[in-house]
Amino acid sequence: MIGYASKHGSTAEIADFIGKELKSKKTTVDIQPVIQVESVENYDVVIIGSPIYYGKWLAEIPEFVEINLEKLINIPVACFITCMAAIKTDEDNIKEANGHLTKSLAQIPRIKPFKTGYFAGKLDYKKCTLIETILMKVIMMWKGAEAGDYRNWSIIKSWTSAVLNVVELPES
Ligand SMILES: Cc1cc2nc3c(=O)[nH]c(=O)nc-3n(C[C@H](O)[C@H](O)[C@H](O)COP(=O)(O)O)c2cc1C
Repeated sequence: MIGYASKHGSTAEIADFIGKELKSKKTTVDIQPVIQVESVENYDVVIIGSPIYYGKWLAEIPEFVEINLEKLINIPVACFITCMAAIKTDEDNIKEANGHLTKSLAQIPRIKPFKTGYFAGKLDYKKCTLIETILMKVIMMWKGAEAGDYRNWSIIKSWTSAVLNVVELPES
């Protein structure tokens, strides 16, 4: 199961992409927003993904983990985040993206993911409130970058392959 949170849709599309990659390996995958997940009882592996907003992943993720903790601590879990920090690969931005991941995982301390990752995301001012737009314009100016779609599908594909190298997924 791939459980995700997404405010503006770009992480949902990444979850969908990962799901399609896994399905192409002939396994069964459910892809759902975490707020809609009723139970994780029947899943062998869970992948959790969320964008970073204000330095943290969305609150739905720790809530989902808390509700399903007993099951999740007993199955393989992988986690990914999407963020603007990952759009550049210099030392400062890598440190920032790693910091986002570390801080997010610290919110679910009982989960020990077998695989983690951060992906560059997508920033679309048309989907932001005025305050969000102003804030992100300042941050992006400081970063020396433009808003846009920075998702790198080949990196996401490689990450998905790496997940498959660790866990044995049952064939559908
Ligand atoms: C209001 C706002 C706050 C954000 N805060 C951060 C942040 O603290 N660090 C970061 O690297 N990216 C930040 N981002 C970028 C988002 O993580 C990125 O746009 C992500 O791809 C959005 O995912 P979604 O489309 O699934 O909501 C922020 C974006 C917005 C609009």
